[in-house]
Amino acid sequence: MTHHTSPKAGTAHASAAPMASMGASLTINGTPHQLLIEPWTTLLDLLREQLGLTGTKKGCDHGQCGACTVLLDGRRINSCLKLAVSLDGSEVTTVEGLGQAGRLHPLQAAFIEHDAFQCGYCTPGQICSAAGLIAEGHARSREEVREQMSGNLCRCGAYTNIADAVLEVLEKGDAR
Ligand code: FES
Ligand code: FES
Repeated sequence: MTHHTSPKAGTAHASAAPMASMGASLTINGTPHQLLIEPWTTLLDLLREQLGLTGTKKGCDHGQCGACTVLLDGRRINSCLKLAVSLDGSEVTTVEGLGQAGRLHPLQAAFIEHDAFQCGYCTPGQICSAAGLIAEGHARSREEVREQMSGNLCRCGAYTNIADAVLEVLEKGDAR
């Protein structure tokens, strides 16, 4: 009548075969870092766990929600999908690098002004994605903003206010 599986079934012991960390140099928010990184570490985990940059959020960890969006050499990417060791020589900008309290990025200020968040979990990814979107220069209208940020999900449904905030910065043309 026992239905539980053997305790050994499916277990993997990572400690059995330690792998060497690999060296990589990345510039993160303008600061150069020489890093030792385990080969399987994603950029997201490097940022959050190794560097303490917890502004970047982990949602799905599978490239489906956009919570982990950062800028890689100025282009927006899902950091959960990139192995950090593959980014040797790259520049990464996280939400902390866009702005801080007292010197907010225009997008951060616009998100506050337009009430473009509720729980805030998606917000750093939305802001990094919007910075990348504006730099790309392809979005002109609300529909285009919505479409080109469709990879950034908001479980609170703040999409209308997010689009308002992004459009304001887009139209003012003052995104740094
Ligand atoms: S955490 Fe990376 S896309 Fe969801
Ligand atoms: S503000 Fe809650 S998920 Fe977007």
